[in-house]
Amino acid sequence: MIPSRMQKILSVVGTRPNFMKVAPIVGELERRCDEFEHVLVHTGQHYDDVMSEIFLQELGVGEPDHRLDVGSGSHARQTATVMERIEPVLVAERPDVVLVPGDVNSTLAAALVAVKLGLPVAHVEAGLRSFDRTMPEELNRVLTDAISEILFTHSPEAREYLLGEGREESRIHYVGNTMIDTLVAMRERIEVLDAPDRHGLAAGEYLVVTLHRPALVDGPLLGLAAGALRVVAQEMPVVFPVHPRTRARLLAEDPTLSETPELTMLEPLGYLEFLALVAGSAGVLTDSGGIQEETTFLGVPCLTLRANTERPITQSMGTNMLLGLDPERIRDAPGLLAQVRRRPHAVPPLWDGCAAQRIVDVLAARAGKETQASRATSSSSLAI
Ligand code: UD1
Repeated sequence: MIPSRMQKILSVVGTRPNFMKVAPIVGELERRCDEFEHVLVHTGQHYDDVMSEIFLQELGVGEPDHRLDVGSGSHARQTATVMERIEPVLVAERPDVVLVPGDVNSTLAAALVAVKLGLPVAHVEAGLRSFDRTMPEELNRVLTDAISEILFTHSPEAREYLLGEGREESRIHYVGNTMIDTLVAMRERIEVLDAPDRHGLAAGEYLVVTLHRPALVDGPLLGLAAGALRVVAQEMPVVFPVHPRTRARLLAEDPTLSETPELTMLEPLGYLEFLALVAGSAGVLTDSGGIQEETTFLGVPCLTLRANTERPITQSMGTNMLLGLDPERIRDAPGLLAQVRRRPHAVPPLWDGCAAQRIVDVLAARAGKETQASRATSSSSLAI
């Protein structure tokens, strides 16, 4: 095997869920520092300490090499600002591969700039589809997959969707779930936290709530959800770490929700604290993507308040139940959690803590092939 030259991988993170997806890959690239150099770009789409900095610290990602500080804004503005600010970074760094995780505005923006500069893009979490193009994330997924050279998938159906959209089989690599790698790596630290006790809750008897999607939060449904949560709190304690986007709207819709007995509204939590609360709960009510996966891995019931999910394996194999975009159904949460708990469930294939290793193996094999190809080209040109 011909040794390949050192590869420079540049990863782009921007929002809270990106950090858990990239952390294990950063760790693996650092472990193989004789083969890889790693550069981390933080777009700053999420910028608060509680939405960003705490994750960099807890997950050991370290200080980013470049911060773009794009902040909040409309979709066009946020996407455009990432594009504008990342271009000179990519030109200066000239990485061999640009790695983008997930489906947020930063993902698409970085991928688009990279391909236009002729840099290969690797998409982590490729092929997820809700088939709902009113979701900004769905547009980001479809478009990022369309321009990525390497498609890392974590769910078997992703391959079918990607092939159906005309992606070449050779680009698709089923590697497993890097978000679960992070959970596996952090499990002991999560277990020792004893989160329920510190929040004055009895383990296995409370509901964790997270809600932040525009479809729910940016309209009248949020007020209905708040009303239904008041009802649930009469039956079981509710803990609600509130996303900044939700907090502003919630205060307008229902200014006294936080005064409901047995309903605790918290600031967004760090990774360890949040997962510890989830692991100790009776179940979760959410509209998040990643939490559907984390609860499936932990075997904790998850009620998803959405009309669809891009993660159907969490329903077919795991502990996820789709409620529809219907806040009234929140009232049934205690009974539904018990129902889910009785269902058989399992962890999807390759959600085993080794996805990042497989990703880096694919990057190493690609580098090996490139080296062979470029040596073949230079020796044939010598022969001429
Ligand atoms: C983004 C992602 C979504 C992901 C979510 C996780 C897109 C299109 N959406 O949604 O896929 O599930 O992150 O959290 O990329 N804000 C703060 N502090 C912050 C970040 C945001 O106060 O650190 C506020 C902003 O003022 C903004 C709102 O939260 O009004 C929304 O932030 P934004 O980054 O636009 O999208 P999210 O809703 O967080």
